[in-house]
Amino acid sequence: MKKIVVVGSLNMDMSARVKCIPTTGETTMGSNLVMVPGGKGANQACTVGKLGGNVVMLGSIGNDEAGRRIKKELDLAGVDTEKLRISSRESSGTAWICVDREGNNSIIVLPGANDCCNEGYIATHRRQIEECDCLLVQLEIPLKAVILSMRIAHEAGKYVILNPAPAKGEMPEEVFRMADLITPNETELFLLTGNYVSNPTQEDIEKQAGRILGRGAGEVLVTLGEKGSMLAQGRKRTIFPALKVEAVDTTGAGDCFNGALAVALTEGKSMEAAIRFASAAAALSVQKNGAQSSIPERGEVEALCNIF
Ligand code: ATP
Ligand code: RIB
Repeated sequence: MKKIVVVGSLNMDMSARVKCIPTTGETTMGSNLVMVPGGKGANQACTVGKLGGNVVMLGSIGNDEAGRRIKKELDLAGVDTEKLRISSRESSGTAWICVDREGNNSIIVLPGANDCCNEGYIATHRRQIEECDCLLVQLEIPLKAVILSMRIAHEAGKYVILNPAPAKGEMPEEVFRMADLITPNETELFLLTGNYVSNPTQEDIEKQAGRILGRGAGEVLVTLGEKGSMLAQGRKRTIFPALKVEAVDTTGAGDCFNGALAVALTEGKSMEAAIRFASAAAALSVQKNGAQSSIPERGEVEALCNIF
């Protein structure tokens, strides 16, 4: 079975429900506080594992209760966590999340031990990346570690997926050239090129994706929440509508989408079939609370793909 290496963050998510996400200067009352494993990297690795992929996670946790729980959750999903770095200096990363009545969220991440997922650590484990088939990486760890991971994979001729989340602003040119596929959400798309547009039209999105292609990325797949996703390949633009579902919590929808996409692509599915598979997985995930707690089983995703 082909191997996917996920390089990224691992957090403990503290998630509460609010009526409305507070704005500047506002204090709001929350309820239903839960503490569950999350982190963009861990969520994506967990998705790959749960959907039956062969996956190794590289990242860093603290030598604490949260770290042990995060690792255990990944082990249960079948993720190879043997190479995780366990920092004795830093506590595990945390994410402070509020989810409103429509299922939308707002997140603050305190990286903690995620900052120990640095260039030195990646260099130590370069063979894992050299020997994989697909690298899946996000931006919740130090950027230098992201770039080194991508460089190792790219030079070894591996398929590189960059999920540029959370948005970091403009990136070195090398990042675009080393990515076979970049998967920003709408906000990340505009921040990536530094051309912010408020209330973008479909045309703005397509134009912006074209700019990223122009900088050397192989393909760009923009996720658009309940509107679905848009694939930009050369001059071609294709819209993939999302499934119509009642969202209760969209936390980790993008992670579920990216993990499922990597599984389908490494299984040899076409890009179009992989996007349909990922859209089905993500649509199932938004109907449940939490990030990893909402990742569906393989059978559920396949059943939904058959009727969609
Ligand atoms: P998050 O940061 O909340 O994890 P994201 O912003 O990275 O998510 P989105 O674009 O919101 O990513 O969602 C990823 C994919 O999940 C979408 O392309 C879509 O297929 C699916 N999705 C998200 N929200 C919904 C929804 N309300 N209904 C159906 N599918 C959805
Ligand atoms: O994408 C969702 C994730 O973002 C959460 O699990 C949280 O930990 C933050 O990393």
